[in-house]
Amino acid sequence: MSKHIGILTAGGDSPGLNAAIRAIGKSALSSGMHVLGFRDGFRGLMENRTMRLERETLSSILTRGGTILGTSRDKPHKMPVGSEVMDMTQVICDNYRHHNLDALICIGGGGTQKNAYRLAQNGLNILTLPKTIDNDVAMTDVTFGFHTAMEIATEAIDRLHSTAHSHHRIIVVEIMGHNAGWLALGAGMAGGADVILIPEIPYDLEAVTAAIRKRKQRGTNFSIVAVAEGALAVADHQRYTSLKAAKTEAKEKADSKAVKKIEEALLEFTTNRSNNTLRLSQELEKMTGLESRVTILGHYQRGGTPSAADRMLATRLGSACIDYIEQDIGGVMIAADRDGTKAVPLAEVVGKKNLVPKDHPWVLAARKVGTCMGD
Ligand code: F6P
Repeated sequence: MSKHIGILTAGGDSPGLNAAIRAIGKSALSSGMHVLGFRDGFRGLMENRTMRLERETLSSILTRGGTILGTSRDKPHKMPVGSEVMDMTQVICDNYRHHNLDALICIGGGGTQKNAYRLAQNGLNILTLPKTIDNDVAMTDVTFGFHTAMEIATEAIDRLHSTAHSHHRIIVVEIMGHNAGWLALGAGMAGGADVILIPEIPYDLEAVTAAIRKRKQRGTNFSIVAVAEGALAVADHQRYTSLKAAKTEAKEKADSKAVKKIEEALLEFTTNRSNNTLRLSQELEKMTGLESRVTILGHYQRGGTPSAADRMLATRLGSACIDYIEQDIGGVMIAADRDGTKAVPLAEVVGKKNLVPKDHPWVLAARKVGTCMGD
């Protein structure tokens, strides 16, 4: 009996999604499977909005950015429906069964892995692929989208260099990454940023200023500061982490009033992360006497055609996913493992984040070439 499989893409989009859809679709069709796409992530699965994936649909999408299926950040168990937020898990499970699916492939980042795991716990046969430009999904060597975004951010830093140089300015360039600093670190290193600030290493404004002043004393009147959107100064970082710890404690005690209050306080750190970047730029201007400008790369980093490396990675993971389905393996994330892949149980993926270790070889190399890491 030929198998029926579903695919959806969820969370923030990422270059390489179409390459993954193509790889899954073409490999599945070659194996005699039927492939059904769901539009806009878990919302499309809940609303039963589908797209049949045939050879013609899968043709010419390898190089396209975004996702032909559309995406959303909607969660099955907390889905806005009209003016309410509802648990739509049962409807999703019913739709899965209505389509006689043998497996559902959810392509996404950390949030998607969690949501997919919840569905697996509700009895659905789920496989996931790790994608995000943040590269913060645990248990995989790398996620697709990261490489392309690093290329884009590096090119931006290259271009910012010449204008910073001409105007003798500091340019603070904000790079995506609210938990993990892989993108700011990678692009900062490849682009030769003078200062790289990442969430994993709380920064001391004095140390950043000293690095820029030192360059000035040497006659270099410009500096590039690559800052991850989630990077925080030491004091802010301390407040943020103690709020997070207090939230976990309040949750454990099932104190919903306290959780709500703490969540409100946490909004300061999550609603407009660019405020930190703007403040950082103003402070550096004041403390160094150099003019400073801010460039926020934002969603530009997620758009457009994927790099060759991401096309390759998405194709490898997507085609391997079908092999695992053929072997009746489910409840797993298909992870990149050197040149190959491995199927990691979803239970081992969720609740973890791939953050930059403070002694990671990239950090050590950046320091060796004289990059200020903010500490
Ligand atoms: O996809 C991850 C990410 O790119 C983060 O780095 C960033 O904070 C977030 O998405 C932005 O998401 P949205 O597209 O919802 O604004």
